[in-house]
Amino acid sequence: MIALKLIETAQALFADDKGLLAMDESNPTCNKRFAEFGIPQTEEARRSYRELIVTTPNLGECISGLILYDETIRQTKKDGTSFLKIIVDAGIIPGIKVDAGAKDLAGHPGEKITEGLDGLRERLEEYAKMGARFAKWRAVIMIGPGIPSRGCVEANAQALARYAALCQEAGLVPVVEPEVLMDGDHSIDRCFALTEEVLRLVFNELYTQQVMLEGMILKPNMVVPGLTCPEQGTVNEVADATVKCLLRAVPAAVPGIAFLSGGQSGELASACLNAMNVRFRKKLPWALAFSFARAIQQPALEVWKGQEAHVQLAQHALYYRAKCNQAARRGNYPAAMEGE
Ligand code: G3H
Repeated sequence: MIALKLIETAQALFADDKGLLAMDESNPTCNKRFAEFGIPQTEEARRSYRELIVTTPNLGECISGLILYDETIRQTKKDGTSFLKIIVDAGIIPGIKVDAGAKDLAGHPGEKITEGLDGLRERLEEYAKMGARFAKWRAVIMIGPGIPSRGCVEANAQALARYAALCQEAGLVPVVEPEVLMDGDHSIDRCFALTEEVLRLVFNELYTQQVMLEGMILKPNMVVPGLTCPEQGTVNEVADATVKCLLRAVPAAVPGIAFLSGGQSGELASACLNAMNVRFRKKLPWALAFSFARAIQQPALEVWKGQEAHVQLAQHALYYRAKCNQAARRGNYPAAMEGE
């Protein structure tokens, strides 16, 4: 019974070429984004911004799932309507970030371990009762001189697998996010090798913890050169390297892959996703979709700047980027967006 429900939810999240919008920034991360535009870093400002997102007209045409944060899932519109009701009424599936953030990993200078397993079973039960149908946990792997270590990758892979098993027990589809960060001057080849190693270890642990692959979603980074690498490569090179890496490491039973944007601009993230779908969509066992935060939200945040008068324009900007990514899933970006 639970297995069927998980499979149905996972498939619904990839239906109609839609994708996920991550609006699950923790309070410190959300405040950091607000600070860039001089927006007050208060609970009310975060609530107003999240209200702007969930009330964006027609968002459900291109977004299948919204990933919320603990503060947000409990919030309401100014008129008292809960965000959860607005989301469900828009035909969007609510999800929730459940990790407690990346902390320094003991014995591994410069590396992080994502925490949050303690009490997770009870928290998942509460979120499921509230109406969440999927969850997210993000592990971060940094590339640098001598890192990542095997110890860091294994510890994070095991935590991801334990989280995923607990989610499935609670009837929530786990979004498994092992992010190899873009920071650094490493080459695309180094990102390829490490992403492959990380994914292999993650799937090994998922198997050990008896996670049902048909009822989960993988949220990986694309295979890209480091942000300060002098050789940035082309969109097609990123598309080819990413798909080659995923084919080596991701079992065909996984229904879909929803990329994070990791600091790419909105245009670049859409262009890379589009190139993958143009070149490989018909040959792949899983759907290639998106679960972007910055690559969908950034233009809207820039327009909004905390001003009530800018809400409508910001919603247009948000909807536009979401629509661009739906087109990219179809291999129809930017052609489909011309004149919009
Ligand atoms: O965990 C990170 C977010 O879900 C994805 O964020 O697209 O800005 O990298 P991003």
